[in-house]
Amino acid sequence: MEKLLIRGGNKLRGSVTISGAKNAAVAILPACLLANARCRLENLPDIKDVKLFIRILENLGASVDMVDANTAEIDCSNVKSWEPIGDLTRKMRGSSYLMGALLGRFHRFSVDPPGGCDFGTRPIDQHIKSFEALGAETNTDRGMINGSAEHLHGGNIFFDVVTVGATINAILAATLADGTTIIENAAKEPHIVDLANFLNSLGANIRGAGTDTIKIKGVKELHGGTYTIIPDQIEAGTFMIAAAATRGDVVLNNVIPRHLDIISAKLIEAGVNVSEGEDSVRVWVDEGASLKRINFIALPYPGFPTDMQPQLVTLLTTIPGTSTAREGVWENRFRYTNELKRMGANIRVEGKLAIIDGVDKLHGSRVKATDLRGGAAMIIAGLMADGTTEITDIYHIDRGYESFEQKFIGLGGDIHRVQFTEDVY
Ligand code: EPU
Repeated sequence: MEKLLIRGGNKLRGSVTISGAKNAAVAILPACLLANARCRLENLPDIKDVKLFIRILENLGASVDMVDANTAEIDCSNVKSWEPIGDLTRKMRGSSYLMGALLGRFHRFSVDPPGGCDFGTRPIDQHIKSFEALGAETNTDRGMINGSAEHLHGGNIFFDVVTVGATINAILAATLADGTTIIENAAKEPHIVDLANFLNSLGANIRGAGTDTIKIKGVKELHGGTYTIIPDQIEAGTFMIAAAATRGDVVLNNVIPRHLDIISAKLIEAGVNVSEGEDSVRVWVDEGASLKRINFIALPYPGFPTDMQPQLVTLLTTIPGTSTAREGVWENRFRYTNELKRMGANIRVEGKLAIIDGVDKLHGSRVKATDLRGGAAMIIAGLMADGTTEITDIYHIDRGYESFEQKFIGLGGDIHRVQFTEDVY
């Protein structure tokens, strides 16, 4: 097994290039199933979730040619099956998009329930509701989720909650359906816009992505094409917070500053400097400046991203005074705070609220990555802390960040990945 050892105290300095967006990639990869031709995807992040998705597509019969670590040519014209084999889909959340993509392509699907990070219950009722609005019947049988439609047609979908996953699945299912679909109360995340742009570049007719209402006029078929995935908003935000947390000075290249506005706004409120270029952002803290406590709430886009909540809480652990963080998306996304407490943080969790009393310093300790972003938070904490921090369960981090520790090392972080054998009792 592998773990990370971090010696804290170095200020991060220099520049870092942000990779392609994980959550866009895991929506766009299954979208290739809708095209009966070759799709070339560029700026794919070289991460475990993408590799896993490519294996799932290959197992279904797709031909995938990795041109380099970040470029894939995918041809799904030979796919004949609507039943992914094995239990690969259980390892990631994005695999739920196979339901919408297979329904759109074959008018049926049979999949294992999706996996992903554990934030409490992760229902799929809104996904199912959207498939049924398009004429599908669904059931769960011996643990498999099945769906089929004799006539896949347009429909009106009104989501009861703002959900990224169900919005993406509804788009995937409706793109080739007969007639017009209207999605109300749609999620507006940048990766939803990216998926719509990708599909439109292949001949789909999707309007309004990035607003509450998305209108999809079904088309008969999609052609192939080349598409470049957007930069990762959350990876960029993670480096912004790491720069602030170490009181450093970092330029992030290959970003879309507009996607980072809310993260920049909270950092500026805390006394961090942020300046935007055309496709870059610089984040730095003035020598000797003390940062200010803040309150924030994690919400769907354009609110502060829930996937940045653990990283921002980590920054707040050493800012004097009391800060608060409210989780407005997930039932239970504060498990990582127990790990921060092992490092000396003073955090009290009351339901969906975390109350953070700033301490002078975090201290190196043995902690684990409880999930993907909780793991990123541990790296930031390790960089801030006195002494050495040991992080286990780092497979969570490898799912979603490309060359993460190498990028930190390039900025002056003291991080090493080491092999170890777990004691078995
Ligand atoms: N929800 C329902 N019913 C549904 C679907 C969702 O009640 O049918 C609820 C959820 O329980 C949650 C809320 O709606 O309370 C939002 O869930 P959403 O569907 O938006 O989440 P998701 O699609 O499962 C994606 C990202 C997550 C990110 C959330 C919110 C992917 C692969 N995952 O999950 O990313 O936290 O949107 O932005 O895109 C991460 O990257 O670390 C990560 C967890």
